[in-house]
Amino acid sequence: MSEKPEVLIKEESIRGRVDEMARRISTHYTDAGVTEVLLVGVLRGAFIFLADLTRRLTIPHRVDFIAVSAYGDSAGTTPGSIKLWKDVTTDIAGRHVLLVEDICDTGRTLRFLMEVFSRRGPASLKTCVLVRKPGKRAADLAKQKNRAEPVTVDYVGFEIPDQWVVGYGLDFQDQWRTLPYIGVMKPE
Ligand code: PRP
Repeated sequence: MSEKPEVLIKEESIRGRVDEMARRISTHYTDAGVTEVLLVGVLRGAFIFLADLTRRLTIPHRVDFIAVSAYGDSAGTTPGSIKLWKDVTTDIAGRHVLLVEDICDTGRTLRFLMEVFSRRGPASLKTCVLVRKPGKRAADLAKQKNRAEPVTVDYVGFEIPDQWVVGYGLDFQDQWRTLPYIGVMKPE
């Protein structure tokens, strides 16, 4: 295993921000008269964030999971084609769906999932991510020809720089997912 990642977002900061996000999400749906929400966690990275978020929400909700893989190369650092490995088992029609992701990097995964879920007749469809990279990589990709606008995210925990981050569910080649903080991989 490589050298321990430097702290980018401390454990206490994550806890405080997840509390705030849960309050905002609960208030939004409650004010809109929604009585139940379906949280869809995107495996594998979202499992820790979702576990904390779900326990802080005051709006009644169910939880289901979808598994996709965004990165297809053997090193795990270059985007390949998105694969849907596991679908939800809940019928989406008429439900208020909140997609829960650990990270929005290029936005390809969320865009793919928005397309998939919007075809299933949800009552509403929103997105929630713990960290988002608004920086270089997403901006560069958005400038490319035939590329759609960056995907809209309804709830964002932290905007982060364009660095490879790990911890709190995020991995580098399946390492560091269980770090309690979000850290930055040091260049090898
Ligand atoms: C990561 C992350 C998101 C996706 C975001 O998944 O969990 O699902 O990449 O990247 P994007 O915005 O560029 O599409 P990954 O495929 O690494 O799988 P994992 O969740 O199992 O770690």
